[in-house]
Amino acid sequence: MLNHMDRVKMIEFKDMGDERGQLVVVEGGIDIPFEIRRAFYIYGSDATVVRGKHANKKTEFVLINVAGTSKVKVMDGAGNEAIFCLNRPNTGIYLPNMVWKEMYDFSPDSVLLVLASEHYDASEYIRDYDEYVKEISSFAFSSEN
Ligand code: TYD
Repeated sequence: MLNHMDRVKMIEFKDMGDERGQLVVVEGGIDIPFEIRRAFYIYGSDATVVRGKHANKKTEFVLINVAGTSKVKVMDGAGNEAIFCLNRPNTGIYLPNMVWKEMYDFSPDSVLLVLASEHYDASEYIRDYDEYVKEISSFAFSSEN
């Protein structure tokens, strides 16, 4: 069975630092496995907030805490989950489509940059966990056939 969880990975970006400071490069299709169609960033969230809580039918993401720290919990709807700490501006996490994700434990200075493979389309977001579990079963089944 196609396991979306296995495709989740941390990515380290090139740091072109010199005596003037650091410069991190993220090129679509080169440093990350998709062309970037959308970027957004989340800040002003705190340690009490849980964001995300959705899966995307189509969109792949890379999340980078360009400042501060946060955590991402990833679930596959089949009982597997993993927690990643985003705590360095030159490291990101790649999230394929059809994983459930929750972002939480934001530090006060957290700026979470999100790069996405698709333009925003509310209809490809699954925001109900039970619906996600149902979808993932049929999704895995149809991917096999
Ligand atoms: P939401 O999906 O709840 O953000 P998160 O999952 O990071 O907690 O998005 C918050 C609002 O912003 C919601 O009304 C949808 C809107 N939005 C867009 O219009 N375009 C986008 O690219 C994103 C990510 C959100």
